[in-house]
Amino acid sequence: MNKLIGVSLLVVGLSVAPSAMAADLTAACAGCHGVDGVSTDAKVPTISGMSAEYLKDVLRQYKKKTRPAEEVTIAAGDKKGTKSDMYKAVADLSDADIATVANAFAAKKFVRAKQAADAALAAKGKAIHDKLCEKCHTEGGSVADDDAGILAGQWIPYLKAQLADYKSGKRPVPSKMQPKLDEVQPGDLDALANYYGSEK
Ligand code: HEC
Ligand code: HEC
Repeated sequence: MNKLIGVSLLVVGLSVAPSAMAADLTAACAGCHGVDGVSTDAKVPTISGMSAEYLKDVLRQYKKKTRPAEEVTIAAGDKKGTKSDMYKAVADLSDADIATVANAFAAKKFVRAKQAADAALAAKGKAIHDKLCEKCHTEGGSVADDDAGILAGQWIPYLKAQLADYKSGKRPVPSKMQPKLDEVQPGDLDALANYYGSEK
């Protein structure tokens, strides 16, 4: 009997642990991604408001190191001023932790970056997007439910780096996106990034 009570107390203890830790887990992310996941650093993406599906998927990719990660300096919090990257950020996260942080950021609002975009490049990028990309990145890449990230209002330097990594094969391209990306000339990646970044 005593043993049974002990076990049930343990189960109760475990089941409250994840929610108690959610704030700690997301605080570590905020050190680089900004308060509520709204980034003020053009190399670091805003992650709030994307779908939990997309966020979980991406975090698992970093855990498996199939997606490239760049080292940056942590801008705020306990580890301010030290260098780290996404591989280290997710290394100690369990599957349950990944679900917790993904749900936490999915529940926040995506706030578009305040940045200048080149109008001529953006117009060129929009034409390419409408022809090749709108099918999956609907409404100009602004819909979270597409489970393909949010492109509208994302930082231009971040988008340029991701498009270059896709094009060079450093970041694995979703199989159905590949033929469309193949139709994009390397010189047009800048135009696409300026289009998404210009969306207000
Ligand atoms: C040391 C800084 C740092 C920390 C800490 C960090 N990130 Fe990141 N994150 C980045 C950078 C930089 C990128 C852009 C890709 C790259 O260059 O690695 C990124 C990319 C991402 C992406 C990809 C966004 C997209 O649109 O595909 C997601 C999602 C993400 N991070 C979530 C998180 C979560 C959740 C945490 C906390 C558990 C976290 N990050 C902690 C720096 C950080
Ligand atoms: C068949 C559907 C499909 C098409 C067409 C498509 N994409 Fe994607 N795209 C995706 C999916 C799914 C993801 C999520 C990728 C991942 O998990 O790595 C994605 C991710 C992205 C990302 C990364 C977002 C981030 O937050 O890091 C960019 C940038 C992007 N696509 C640009 C484009 C452009 C530009 C085109 C047109 C040339 C295009 N996509 C066409 C499905 C598509």
